[in-house]
Amino acid sequence: MNYFETKGDRLFFDRVDLVELAKEYGTPLYVVSESVIKDRCAQIRSEFLNVYPGTQALYASKAFQTLDMCRLIQSEGLGLDVVSGGELFAALKAGFNPEAIVFHGNAKTVDEMDFAVRSGVGRIILDNLYDVEELEKLGGRYNKKIKVLYRITPGVDSHTHRFISTGSPDSKFGIPLEPSVYKGYIDAVLSAPHLEFRGFHFHVGSQLLDNFAHLAALKVVLGLVENFSMEYGANVQELNMGGGFGIEYVSGDKEPGLSCFLTPMMQLIRTELEGKGVPLPRVTIEPGRWIVGPAGVTLYTVGAVKEIPGVRTYVGVDGGMTDNIRPALYGARYRAVVAGRAAAVPDQLVTIAGKCCESGDILIKDIELPSPHPGDILAVFATGAYHHSMASNYNRNPRPAVVHVNQGSARLSVRRETYDDLIAREL
Ligand SMILES: Cc1ncc(COP(=O)(O)O)c(C=O)c1O
Repeated sequence: MNYFETKGDRLFFDRVDLVELAKEYGTPLYVVSESVIKDRCAQIRSEFLNVYPGTQALYASKAFQTLDMCRLIQSEGLGLDVVSGGELFAALKAGFNPEAIVFHGNAKTVDEMDFAVRSGVGRIILDNLYDVEELEKLGGRYNKKIKVLYRITPGVDSHTHRFISTGSPDSKFGIPLEPSVYKGYIDAVLSAPHLEFRGFHFHVGSQLLDNFAHLAALKVVLGLVENFSMEYGANVQELNMGGGFGIEYVSGDKEPGLSCFLTPMMQLIRTELEGKGVPLPRVTIEPGRWIVGPAGVTLYTVGAVKEIPGVRTYVGVDGGMTDNIRPALYGARYRAVVAGRAAAVPDQLVTIAGKCCESGDILIKDIELPSPHPGDILAVFATGAYHHSMASNYNRNPRPAVVHVNQGSARLSVRRETYDDLIAREL
């Protein structure tokens, strides 16, 4: 469903006028549509949870985590993936059921593991032997049996940007699939009296626009599931297949949709395991970007428009790499419109420049817009995931506010940072 409309000249999102929103809350502004998030969670239910009984879906909260988002996700019936003590703290403050939280991380600190164990999170994903040793000690200290899964590096290159590709053999995430190595990891967890080994986890990478890497990785991991049954005479109870389902950022991207990934993956699990008499594990997915990416729009106010004859026209805006690091980090590309002239025909090729002191702080290189003027509101699409959560204060820029929109109403969810906030920690 499309939640964007043009009325007169104005762009509306989830039935809210974006120019009016910018006037009321200022810019830069993250706008998040609750309707889009609910719609996407409903698709997860109708295309996955309801089709395959016993499955589970977690929201990877690193994509966008606020107290409101945690509450919304819980009310939609999904669990939560957290990856730090801070994400866990916020989730608990939001009232998230700890049993529905899964704790990840390749470099968890002992304090974070202690916090996760004390809080009673449902699962902890092991990444290394240090995790095994420290969690075993914590299980003993608190007299708990901790439910754990191992993150596996399936050795599959996902052809996404190398910074968001995580499944290839040279990866900081997960345990390698070399039998001489992984057996030591498995023996360690099986012999730890306070750990209950539940199964395996893999995540091939992010923003994937086809299912090849997911299927290749799954096939490898299913081989491991089968070997485990044969070698250890026990069955893998759970299989967490991560996230990574891509979305449309620019018109050339074609979002494959959930079923394009999950239908063949669920089929592959059945064909690979059933024939061999291996019981099917309980399957979990944990998408982040797919749920919240399309739910976000960032609004900026245009400032200086600088034409360099014969070279390009730079359009300066009041945000940049501090609210959206993805172009500088990954070369990510975006679509945008002038929100107050949304129906106008683009007639100028421009480059949208951020305000930070880095030549690389370019939000959009070469985009056709109806010639932007100072004071125009620029709406950049698909900014719900990995924007607010990756924001920084470089150049002492205050981080933007977050406003939720929902069927014509708007509400402040996170207030804008102030200059006082910027020095609040300094003694
Ligand atoms: C372990 C794990 N699960 C899930 C995700 C979510 O990925 P995405 O937002 O691409 O769905 C990530 C992203 O880095 C991840 O590392």
